Amino acid sequence: MKSINWLGIETSCDDTSIAIVRNGKEILSNLISSQVSLHEKYGGIVPELASRKHFEVINPLIECALCEARLSWKDLDGVSVSYGPGLIGSLIIGVTVAKTIAGLLKLPLLGINHLEGHIYANFIQYDDIGFPCICLLVSGGHTALILMEEHGVFTILGETRDDAAGECFDKAARILDLSYPGGPEIDSLAITGNKKAFSFPRAYLPHNPFEFSFSGLKTSMMYFIKSEDINKHKIEDICASFQAAIIDVLVKKTMKALETLNIKRLLLAGGVACNSELRKRLAIESEEKGIKLFCPPPSLCTDNAAMIACTAHHYFKKGGKSDLTIDAFPNLICGS
Ligand code: KG4
Ligand code: ZN
Repeated sequence: MKSINWLGIETSCDDTSIAIVRNGKEILSNLISSQVSLHEKYGGIVPELASRKHFEVINPLIECALCEARLSWKDLDGVSVSYGPGLIGSLIIGVTVAKTIAGLLKLPLLGINHLEGHIYANFIQYDDIGFPCICLLVSGGHTALILMEEHGVFTILGETRDDAAGECFDKAARILDLSYPGGPEIDSLAITGNKKAFSFPRAYLPHNPFEFSFSGLKTSMMYFIKSEDINKHKIEDICASFQAAIIDVLVKKTMKALETLNIKRLLLAGGVACNSELRKRLAIESEEKGIKLFCPPPSLCTDNAAMIACTAHHYFKKGGKSDLTIDAFPNLICGS
């Protein structure tokens, strides 16, 4: 069987990533040029700076990805790109480059939904997933429970009404004067902390069991900092208690969705899926309830282009194709 090499381009937010994936599984290269040092002094992403940086690094990064994969341009069989959701100025850089390459080399082009890409990180890692499954997608911009019935067929069961889980981690870290992005920092401090030290609110929304809300939790951290002399407390205990409030809600609602729909497969996706406590808790609950848990390695949970190329491989096999008029779509939703 001839090998199929998809080029993946990911510039939806603050990381420029280029990958080449063979047959949807084998990562020949998956390079990421991080912009963390550019944005950390602002405590969040500055869209204009992000866009300019993508523009600066994208072409050399493609050359490096080809070199690492030991391929030349003529070995590529298709070009895929995240075309939304994300920051418009960032998406445009990737989409323009993808269209240019596909047009010049006369290769198939596929615009990939970034959120679906996160879910497909699971299909790089595992061969035996099967359908239907429920995906807990937790990233910096999105938090959702999604039903996946087959390749490319998604139904959103519920999502966040306000802040995403990752956003909540990042904003709390900012309030606590921790480094950016806040999720990994809170995660590592929480390991040695006492999660029962402080009580932060959990929004279970009983009338909307699959929806989330994290803005109240962020606000409660603001009040906590105002009302307490935090130098008197261990930062590890604050992080562990705060993190537990996020994880409890994510785990409870995910288990409820699996039980309600009687589904036995759970996929984790998105940057917050790196969280060690979330992975541990879901592993325990899944084991207890006979659920098969799929959890990509952290390097495939955060933004990367291999997940985009993998998605393209599956969609192209099903007849998917974009044309050269495709545009960046900042508000794209999963399954659309
Ligand atoms: O999926 P991603 O790389 O980008 C988006 O599409 O948003 O997710 C980034 C988010 C950030 O909010 C970051 O703080 C969070 O993922 N994150 C974590 C961890 N690692 C990354 N949150 C909690 N624990 C972690 N270990
Ligand atoms: Zn992402």
